[in-house]
Amino acid sequence: MAEEKSGSVQNLMTENRVFYPSQEFTDKAKVSSRQQRDELYRKSVEQPEEFWADMAEQNIDWFKKWEAVEEYDFTDNIFINYYRGAKLNASYNCLDRHLKTWRRNKAALIWQGEPYEDSRTYTYLQLHREVSKFANVLKNIGVKKGDRVTVYLPMIPELAITILACARIGAIHSVVFGGFSAESLRDRILDSNAETLITTNYGLRAGKILNSKEIADNALAECPAVKNCVVVKRLDKDCNMVEGRDHWWHEAMAKAPLDCEPEQMDAEDPLFILYTSGSTGKPKGVMHTTGGYMVYTTSSFKYIFDYRDEDIFWCTADIGWVTGHSYVVYGPLSAGATSLMFEGVPNYPQPDRFWEIVEKYRVNILYTAPTGIRAMMRDGEKWPLGRDLSSLRLLGTVGEPINPEAWMWYHINIGKEKCPIVDTWWQTETGGILITPLPGCIPTKPGSATVPFFGLKPKVIRQDGSEAGVNEGGYLVIEKPWPGLMRGVYGDPERFKTTYFVQYPGYYFTGDGARKDEDGYFWLMGRVDDVLNVSGHRLGTAEVESALVAHAKVAEAAVVGFPHDIKGEGIYAYVTLKEGIDFSDELKKELVAHVRKEIGPIASPDKIHFSNALPKTRSGKIMRRILRKIAAGDVDQLGDTTTLADPSVVDSLVSGRQ
Ligand code: WTA
Repeated sequence: MAEEKSGSVQNLMTENRVFYPSQEFTDKAKVSSRQQRDELYRKSVEQPEEFWADMAEQNIDWFKKWEAVEEYDFTDNIFINYYRGAKLNASYNCLDRHLKTWRRNKAALIWQGEPYEDSRTYTYLQLHREVSKFANVLKNIGVKKGDRVTVYLPMIPELAITILACARIGAIHSVVFGGFSAESLRDRILDSNAETLITTNYGLRAGKILNSKEIADNALAECPAVKNCVVVKRLDKDCNMVEGRDHWWHEAMAKAPLDCEPEQMDAEDPLFILYTSGSTGKPKGVMHTTGGYMVYTTSSFKYIFDYRDEDIFWCTADIGWVTGHSYVVYGPLSAGATSLMFEGVPNYPQPDRFWEIVEKYRVNILYTAPTGIRAMMRDGEKWPLGRDLSSLRLLGTVGEPINPEAWMWYHINIGKEKCPIVDTWWQTETGGILITPLPGCIPTKPGSATVPFFGLKPKVIRQDGSEAGVNEGGYLVIEKPWPGLMRGVYGDPERFKTTYFVQYPGYYFTGDGARKDEDGYFWLMGRVDDVLNVSGHRLGTAEVESALVAHAKVAEAAVVGFPHDIKGEGIYAYVTLKEGIDFSDELKKELVAHVRKEIGPIASPDKIHFSNALPKTRSGKIMRRILRKIAAGDVDQLGDTTTLADPSVVDSLVSGRQ
């Protein structure tokens, strides 16, 4: 029930409306009053040891209990340790323990393929069997505890099965999003020293066939350490198979025994590596460990999505990103939920694909990204109106700031003004959601991720480290760890320290800007480093630049983001060419194709701006501030340009704006 009745979407930019959950929602909610939430929150920050011990008892089955709950140092010798000495297994928690209850025959995973007719449901019992078999396949090809397994699979059930099978035997999975190129895949395999790859013969995307195995083969050509590659037959079509190295999934599974004891893992043993972009050219392998991550994802899932056993939960994220790890697989399955997994995209074959799926499976909780909401908004209300969405009771968003207009559209057209919206802020590094409403008790404001989850102490600070005032923009930092926080950058401890703990000593630095309003609500304002957020996907400007300069005709490149209606942020690339090369539209196309090949389609520049020079200071530093303004069209407010080595460069850039 909205405090104010929703009016037209146009007049909502004032961002001062407040929406309360309905009485009906609150009555049944896990946390149903502000007072109850505040008490729990107070305990979580004042007595973290007790709080996280309770969460660990309530949410996870342990083979052995801990000697200490929380130990850390955020200042000198950066380290984070939860549940020291405890033993558990993530796959046991996601599967085996449910088999002892009525949930053994409950749907664990419902998979909807891109073609309407392709769908499969796995009960907990069935999923347990597939995971155990695949764990035996991995063992058979020599994968041992601690080994890295790279997973390059589209959104098919075998992806969830693979990561749970790795967790079962203590192998560390490293999932590479299926949209990445051979080069990106190769770099991630090499960085993690993986010796095993799991992939598919082909993938499907918006009706097109992706040559996944060919991409994998190209990557493997430069990864001699990879001795085994298991290939899922997604389409009944041949592909190249290398004798001795490549194995068909279905053939290996047919021979695999059904039982596989879960490995007893230490709470701080690594569970997975997931590469994400930072402000340098090389993506970093964010490493998460087992105990804290499982406690955090399971408890945050239950509270934030107010999960009930009869619900169908659908997180639309790809398992290639952290959202899919934490809220398609680990959180929901550990909580004994029914998790829906979708292979396709929102607008194929028609713009109502999401709504068709909600109607078909009677989805109760939908968790998706603002970029998709904005695209569906453009396609018009008629698409959701044509489907029965009455099963929905809770909505969520993640990945980027949601503009109030898109929030309202989601609220009115999808939630029918009765579903609370949880706008959840978090990062690959954080393991799970950190700032979010609890849907039964925190009133929402369109565009704000609201308040911290249990155990979290976020703070907005100024450049000098002092706390920012009410509504004053600053840097978002976090005062102490929580169990889901990353434990390191794989193979690069120094980078872990310098990226997150050096700028503001004593804090974890998020890289995001934020302000806190008079009610203590956080408003996220985007990245403050050279990281772009394109359709909810993180990309470093340096990555795109290094792909561009790898092209034989490019002398120099500078990449910035610009506001984009659908993607949130688009990619604007300034390119100078080598002597004697002329600008042309063909060359623009060639460069876009080149970046797609180097990184993948998500990194395709939206605009390429050829210029003879880039604005540089006398010491040779590119002035990105100016490039960002020109890209955004703010050419009247370029600020001080007198420190430039050649101020006339700016005029020619302004006139050449794309
Ligand atoms: C941004 C995705 C505003 C933010 C889970 C963060 C958000 C980056 C939100 C992490 C949100 C994520 N509101 N911004 N609700 N959620 N972000 O690692 O800039 O892919 O630092 O993790 O996305 O992206 P990542």
